[in-house]
Amino acid sequence: MSVLVSELQAPLAALLPQLHEEDTAVILTHLPRLYARLDHLKAAFSSSVQHSVAIKSNPHPEVLREIVTRGFGLEAASIEEVRRAIEIGCPAERLVFDSPVKTRLELAEVAQHSGVLVNVNTLSELERIPADAQCIIGIRVNPLTDTGSPERFSVGRNESKFGVPIALREEIIQASIHYPVRALHMHSGSQMRNLDAQRSALHSLGELAQQINIALESLGLQRRIEVVDIGGGLPSEPLTTTTQMMAYGALVHSIESLSPFHLVTEFGQWVNAECGLALSRIEYVITGSPDKLFIHLGADMFTRDAYTKARPFPLSLWTALGAPVTAAKSTYDIAGPLCFAGDYIARQVRLPHASEGHWLCIDHAGANTYSLWSRHCSRSVPAHWSWNGETVKRWTARQMISF
Ligand SMILES: Cc1ncc(COP(=O)(O)O)c(C=O)c1O
Repeated sequence: MSVLVSELQAPLAALLPQLHEEDTAVILTHLPRLYARLDHLKAAFSSSVQHSVAIKSNPHPEVLREIVTRGFGLEAASIEEVRRAIEIGCPAERLVFDSPVKTRLELAEVAQHSGVLVNVNTLSELERIPADAQCIIGIRVNPLTDTGSPERFSVGRNESKFGVPIALREEIIQASIHYPVRALHMHSGSQMRNLDAQRSALHSLGELAQQINIALESLGLQRRIEVVDIGGGLPSEPLTTTTQMMAYGALVHSIESLSPFHLVTEFGQWVNAECGLALSRIEYVITGSPDKLFIHLGADMFTRDAYTKARPFPLSLWTALGAPVTAAKSTYDIAGPLCFAGDYIARQVRLPHASEGHWLCIDHAGANTYSLWSRHCSRSVPAHWSWNGETVKRWTARQMISF
């Protein structure tokens, strides 16, 4: 039996027999994995670095509560995410607000929270900040660097809608003099591959922060840039002693221009992806060329995967009592339940011979899945459970979506 299957045996034996007939699919958060990843993230950087996990990667309130309870912060991409973070107890000084299209009303609301880091996306957003704002104001800078993110997730190129291009250095310095700016922010894109390019982008950001401080000092102003928020963007990876995250932490701390600043990160996918499992009952096994399994999750939950390129989720097959299926292997395409032709989460995968009533476990499905739930075909959102290493607990019931 593979390591992956043996690791899942206890949680799935606890979970699957408890499900009801209408639970055609279910989501499970694996808490020991989440705790291990958070610990690893903390260890990869110096202890003064604040890690605010991107809510958009998994906005389930219980997941957020677990993250906050363990001393981490949250990054919100909308006012709704800001409110959710505050509701579940995220301290203001660990909260970051990054929406690219904040309204005047939203800025007035968030400005009352002392210590929240609000990163403006354009210089014109600065004039909307209320004069009595209690929050920390940062400017999102576009480093104009290609860090190797897939094109759709890259935000650091010239035509990007995110941040003020670093080429507008003089405008950024002047804006930082005229408005109460105390932070700079950069997020180069998701699934970065080229960390050398990221190093040079971060170095330039640190240099710019130092130039702003020299300008403020020369004008006799007390205010300084104190915070540099370096965003997220590392792809998920297994936890070993030599992770890319460890290397990235060392790289960040080796950049001298960043050393005077309080650092903030905003990882999402790296933290959450491996902590989530999605499970679907197999409804139909259709023989043909190729054989197909029809399941109850597809482009509704795996939106990015169905519409772009599917991630290589580890798949395994289970009985309804939570035992691994050990039959000889067959090759299947895995079709989702939505009424469009591209709704497949995997093709040509080898799995034990499947039957109606078996369960397909889709592992490493904890990021950018539940948060992207699609209304297409109006299917219900599965119940969400957690595994704490000993028992399972239902966090939220299966929910009909509202319109
Ligand atoms: C501003 C910002 N910060 C952080 C993230 C999280 O990125 P990742 O999940 O790749 O770490 C995103 C993702 O879109 C983002 O837009």
